Amino acid sequence: MNTFTIPRSLGRSLVGLLATTILTAAPAKGPGPSKHAGRGIACAQCHGKGGKREAVPMRQCQTCHDPEALAARTAQVKPTNPHQNRHYGTQTDCTRCHHEHRASENFCLPCHTRFGFKVP
Ligand code: HEC
Ligand code: HEC
Ligand code: HEC
Ligand code: HEC
Repeated sequence: MNTFTIPRSLGRSLVGLLATTILTAAPAKGPGPSKHAGRGIACAQCHGKGGKREAVPMRQCQTCHDPEALAARTAQVKPTNPHQNRHYGTQTDCTRCHHEHRASENFCLPCHTRFGFKVP
C-alpha cells in the first residue's frame, strides 16, 4: 500500500517557515484555547497527568477516535477522503492536519493543490 513515505522533515520545514512568519508578526503567548475543552475533555486526557504539555502522539488521539471508523465516516468527502490516502492509508498522523490550540492546516495542499480541504 505505502509505496513511499513523505519525509516528516519536509512537512516540518514548511510548517516551521510558516510558524516563523507568524511568530515574528506577533509574540507567542502560550497555547491558544483547547478546542476539546468545549466538549468536556480535560487537558490530562491528551497530555497525561503531570506530563509535559507538548505535542501529543497519535495513539493518544486513538484512545477516543478509531481511524478506521473515522475513514468510513468521511468516505464521501470531496475531493478525496482526508482520513484514507495513498501514502499512509488510515495512519496519517492526526496532528499533521488538526491542531488543538491554533488553526488547523491542510497537510496535503503544498503537494496537491486540488485537495483543498477545510480542516476543522
Ligand atoms: C485533544 C487533545 C488535547 C487537549 C484536550 C489539550 N491539548 Fe494541549 N496540545 C495538544 C496537541 C496536539 C499539541 C501540539 C500542538 C498542536 O498540534 O496543536 C498541544 C500542545 C500544548 C502545549 C505546548 C504549546 C503548543 O502550543 O505547542 C501546551 C502548553 C498545551 N498543549 C497545554 C494544554 C492545556 C493547558 C490544555 C487544557 C486546557 C490542553 N493543552 C488540552 C493536544 C491537546
Ligand atoms: C478523551 C477523548 C478524546 C481524545 C483523547 C481526543 N478526542 Fe477528539 N474529540 C473527542 C470528542 C468526544 C469529540 C466530539 C465528538 C466527535 O466529533 O467525534 C471530538 C472531536 C474531535 C474533532 C472534531 C472537531 C470538530 O470541530 O468537528 C477533531 C478534529 C478531533 N476530535 C481530533 C482529535 C485529535 C487530533 C486528537 C489527538 C491530538 C483527539 N481528537 C483526541 C474526544 C477526544
Ligand atoms: C489530511 C488531513 C487530515 C488528517 C491527517 C486527519 N484529518 Fe480529521 N479531518 C480532516 C478534514 C478535512 C475533516 C473534515 C471532513 C469533512 O469535510 O466532513 C476532518 C474531520 C475530522 C473529524 C470530524 C468527523 C466528523 O464526522 O465530522 C474528526 C473527529 C477527525 N477529523 C479526527 C481525526 C483524527 C483522530 C485523525 C488521526 C487519526 C485525523 N482526523 C487525521 C482532515 C484530516
Ligand atoms: C510531500 C509531498 C506530498 C504530500 C504532503 C502528499 N502527497 Fe500525495 N503524492 C505525492 C507524490 C509525489 C505523488 C505521486 C507518486 C505516487 O503516486 O505515489 C502522490 C500521489 C498521490 C495520490 C495518487 C495520485 C493522484 O494524484 O491521484 C493520491 C490519491 C495522493 N497522493 C493523496 C494525498 C493525500 C490525501 C495527501 C494528504 C494526506 C497527500 N497525498 C500528501 C506527494 C505528496
